[in-house]
Amino acid sequence: MERTLSIIKPDGVAKNVIGEVIKRFETDGIKIAAMKMIQLTKTQAKGFYAVHKERPFFDSLTDFMTSGPIVVMVLEGEDVIAGNRKLMGATNFEEAKEGTIRKDYATNIEKNVVHGSDAPETAAFEIGYFFNDLEIQRR
Ligand code: CMP
Repeated sequence: MERTLSIIKPDGVAKNVIGEVIKRFETDGIKIAAMKMIQLTKTQAKGFYAVHKERPFFDSLTDFMTSGPIVVMVLEGEDVIAGNRKLMGATNFEEAKEGTIRKDYATNIEKNVVHGSDAPETAAFEIGYFFNDLEIQRR
């Protein structure tokens, strides 16, 4: 069993696709082990995306991530890191496969609806950034 962090970004919340995204997870057999809606401060967004701090898109990305509420979730399942990434599709929605969340709902490379951890180490950091152990259910 594996865990990963999923975020429905401000564009996904604004587009009213929270339910649609969650439906895709549940249909795929992924279990939601924790969930909340929050709005990040700029400092919190910068901390979360610290690995990207030297990238040219860092300031714009962290502005975007603070622009409205987000839904953060811990997902649980077998190979859920890879499974979630498959459901999301490529970061750049123009390269995402048909039927993926980003292909269906992304606006551009930044406003790409969802975030998902890319490896076990990043998942551990990202889950710990938003949730403590008591807030995560065993599914
Ligand atoms: P995410 O998977 O959350 O990881 C970093 C985010 O930066 C990415 O999704 C996009 O929202 C955003 N981003 C903006 N421009 C780029 C880019 N050129 N390459 C990768 N990510 C980008």
